[in-house]
Amino acid sequence: MKQYTNYSLLAHNTFGMDVQAAMFVEYDRVDELRNFLGSEDFLRFRDRFIHIGAGSNLLFGGDYDGLVMHSAIRDIDVVSESGDCLLVRVGAGYVWDEFVDYCVTHGYAGVENLSAIPGEVGASAVQNIGAYGVEVCDVIEWVETLSIDGQERIFKREDCGYGYRDSIFKRKLRGKYIVTHVVYRLAKKTQFRLDYGDVRARVEAEGGATLATVRHAVTAIRDSKLPDPKVLGNAGSFFTNPVIPREQYEKLLTTYPDMPSYTIDEARVKVPAGWLIEHTGWKGQALGRAAVHDRQALVLVNRGGATGIEVKELAHRISDDIYAKYGIRIVPEVNFID
Ligand code: EPU
Repeated sequence: MKQYTNYSLLAHNTFGMDVQAAMFVEYDRVDELRNFLGSEDFLRFRDRFIHIGAGSNLLFGGDYDGLVMHSAIRDIDVVSESGDCLLVRVGAGYVWDEFVDYCVTHGYAGVENLSAIPGEVGASAVQNIGAYGVEVCDVIEWVETLSIDGQERIFKREDCGYGYRDSIFKRKLRGKYIVTHVVYRLAKKTQFRLDYGDVRARVEAEGGATLATVRHAVTAIRDSKLPDPKVLGNAGSFFTNPVIPREQYEKLLTTYPDMPSYTIDEARVKVPAGWLIEHTGWKGQALGRAAVHDRQALVLVNRGGATGIEVKELAHRISDDIYAKYGIRIVPEVNFID
């Protein structure tokens, strides 16, 4: 286990904020985590700690006067195989896209549409990551955790409270359980999901759908829109797409007939926040060193040396302008840590 005080978090947040944590701990095994949770050091920080993955969904407001924990549990095993399905158990610290690559290479279907998403396996189950018509909760079988009192608890998928970018671990149980492993149900044969955006056209241009062509197409689409955090600090989509009553949407359509939407159910639709941001004139605009990405307005970027406060201020202004124009309140997906 690694344990440091006054530790730089620059390598642990994709927004590129050069801030420090009072203490940083990285453990390799579940028993190490359990021992640490029983230690004096943890007790000292029990009310002021965060557990991070790759830091791809975080914005630090400044130095963090608390404990930052990170999992380096990286084992991966097929735990059962039956008929057309198999269960793969993966350590929370396994890099998400390396897991997708492992699945595609072995011919295991289910996560290929989730290619090239930054982050780690543990966070995939907390955030319910999603893209190109698939959410990770579609393939999660169970989530293994330790409570902060060191007790093992397994959550079956139906007990995880999954919704769009949402889970019980983000809400009611926030800060109470630490994900140690995730078990995914993958398929040996699949029905490809190609109906989102340009996916089908790209896959057809590559000679038809295989796990590898879908992975390649999704990666290429993401690369064309989303900035590389190594070049331009960012945390992917800064906001979630707002879900609004269909009635409100239909009223808005009379003034804004081009406003896109995705149906959630009879009563609700989801409106792309990227469209709202672009049509409020913010795409490509900056506030100090924080800016709105010029190829995907849902992404806020650090043009170099921006503080978390600057990014937060930009987010507030955008959100207020959208509310004033459309009466829709967009909310951040990124976790703000101050
Ligand atoms: N749009 C604009 N202007 C923009 C961006 C988007 O008008 O600058 C409109 C377009 O109408 C476009 C629609 O928004 O058709 C949807 O855009 P896109 O397909 O890029 O997806 P998104 O809704 O903006 C969501 C996820 C992404 C995920 C994509 C693809 C959320 C918060 N974001 O974005 O996830 O990659 O769909 O499935 O749901 C992430 O979470 O970090 C992330 C990148």
